[in-house]
Amino acid sequence: MPFQIDFRGEKAVPVAEGQTILEASLAAGIPHYHACGGKGQCTTCRVLVLEGEENLSQLTSYEKAIKGVRKFPDNVRLACQTHVMGEGVSVQRLIKDDLDRHIFINEAEENITEVMGERRKLALFFIDIRNFTPFIESHLPFDVIHIMRRVFALFRNAIELYNGQIIDTAGDGLYAVFGLKTSIKKAAEAAVLTGLKILDDIKIFNNTYMRPYFNHTFEVGIGVHVGKVIYGNVGIGLSNNLTVMGFPVNIAARLQAATKELNNSFVISERTFRMLKNPPYAVGCDYINLKGVSSAYEVKLIGKPYHTKPAPLTEEV
Ligand code: FES
Repeated sequence: MPFQIDFRGEKAVPVAEGQTILEASLAAGIPHYHACGGKGQCTTCRVLVLEGEENLSQLTSYEKAIKGVRKFPDNVRLACQTHVMGEGVSVQRLIKDDLDRHIFINEAEENITEVMGERRKLALFFIDIRNFTPFIESHLPFDVIHIMRRVFALFRNAIELYNGQIIDTAGDGLYAVFGLKTSIKKAAEAAVLTGLKILDDIKIFNNTYMRPYFNHTFEVGIGVHVGKVIYGNVGIGLSNNLTVMGFPVNIAARLQAATKELNNSFVISERTFRMLKNPPYAVGCDYINLKGVSSAYEVKLIGKPYHTKPAPLTEEV
């Protein structure tokens, strides 16, 4: 049966069965902030419960996690996670406009992964589009950006599917991490599965879109390594403030670069390989040189040889 909830200073709103407070307020035309889309991850929908706390649903796991990090008082609830179960509930929105948002919660706070600085084992994932320059040089800017968006959407979907987080993009590549909320073994597995999925998706994209419409195909180079890194939010107002630093990051970048010299689209460190529960079927082994490491570094080749001739490697970490 529907109840009413009073938004103090705004209006009383009917809450249909199964609706969250956020859904009810949005349906009633209240411009309720919900930066994460109601997924319990940003806290911009938070409300102060003035009356009727006993008639609200139990804390969800998202609320418990956020309250653990943010130390909100008991009478602050996430509207996107809370259902009304009786009459007499009165709440006050805490974030009503951009200035409120700035005061209560800065942009960086909208991500539960925000940390001030921590050392942690993560899986580090670098990917780069191999032969993008010839495409740029022979196509209109509109086409270049459009295709870039499609390819990056393909990367992002795979990374998000396995709970990775993109840290940075640069030119025709990007850098992501796995393991912010899982064990390092699961993170290694997730990073490798992400890479394998991207290789499959690129093949489909080439066959169904690039070849027929542009007479062009792309290949990618992927490198994955695991290791202890420092991560945290630098807090300079960019939308993604998370930064990850440490020697393992350099190694992962170097593995990605080594895909060219080793003529294999997916190169992972031996340490990553040892963590995999279900190692990929096709595996080769090779060695690369790393700056600052005297002995040759063992790597596993789990991708495919390139169709286009690899360019000679010029960079070194
Ligand atoms: S909308 Fe993001 S936590 Fe509720």
